[in-house]
Amino acid sequence: MARERLDKVLANMGYGTRKEVKAITKSGEVTVNGSIVKDSSTHVNPYEDEIIISGERVNYREYIYIMMHKPPGVISATEDRNLETVIDLLEYEDAIFKPAPVGRLDKDTEGLLLITNDGDLNHRLLSPKNHVPKKYYADIDGKVTESDIAEFKKGVVLDDGYETMPAELTILEAGEKSKIEVVIYEGKYHQVKRMFESVGKKVTYLKRLEMGPLKLDEELEIGEYRELTDEELEALFSCAK
Ligand code: URA
Repeated sequence: MARERLDKVLANMGYGTRKEVKAITKSGEVTVNGSIVKDSSTHVNPYEDEIIISGERVNYREYIYIMMHKPPGVISATEDRNLETVIDLLEYEDAIFKPAPVGRLDKDTEGLLLITNDGDLNHRLLSPKNHVPKKYYADIDGKVTESDIAEFKKGVVLDDGYETMPAELTILEAGEKSKIEVVIYEGKYHQVKRMFESVGKKVTYLKRLEMGPLKLDEELEIGEYRELTDEELEALFSCAK
């Protein structure tokens, strides 16, 4: 990476405005590779130089990739005047990267949500031509049948006339209330709920389990998150070229 001005690097990392980090630097609070640097216009390589500000090592990188176990009741947006967003759940040191959710889960849906500031990957994962599979678990009011499986396999017609792509429905339990898993290859608004409406049933609970090669880490409690591992990232990049 090209060398960048120290004040730009520190401001990008959320240590203050350019003016503020200039003042901090001038006061002798910043070292680069062990030497105090007072001139914030000094050029540094943020990936290779060891930059310490007020005793804290600056861990510079451009992108952040987060897997969140989204809780119900929180919206998949970056900001909202009234409602809590998934970004509000991030720690300051993660939020400063200004990441955004990849697609949306409904407010009452929980489960796997990818959050990143890599706009290019975000775009590719959502692109209809990539058909990235998404797997959900759902509780259903009503008996889910073999004929529903066949309907989903053909593609169903939603309330607005849109014919969905084929989806794979698996019945885990069938009764007055049923438990199912479904894999869809697109992401229309309220898609799973509307697919069940089209066969006369109601989703009462919805959880996303997988998106492409990513599986929800069961160690993550509702509302918790972690960064993706290198293996997860590699798999994600290769599924959305
Ligand atoms: N389908 C839905 O109906 N809701 C979601 O949140 C995701 C898929």
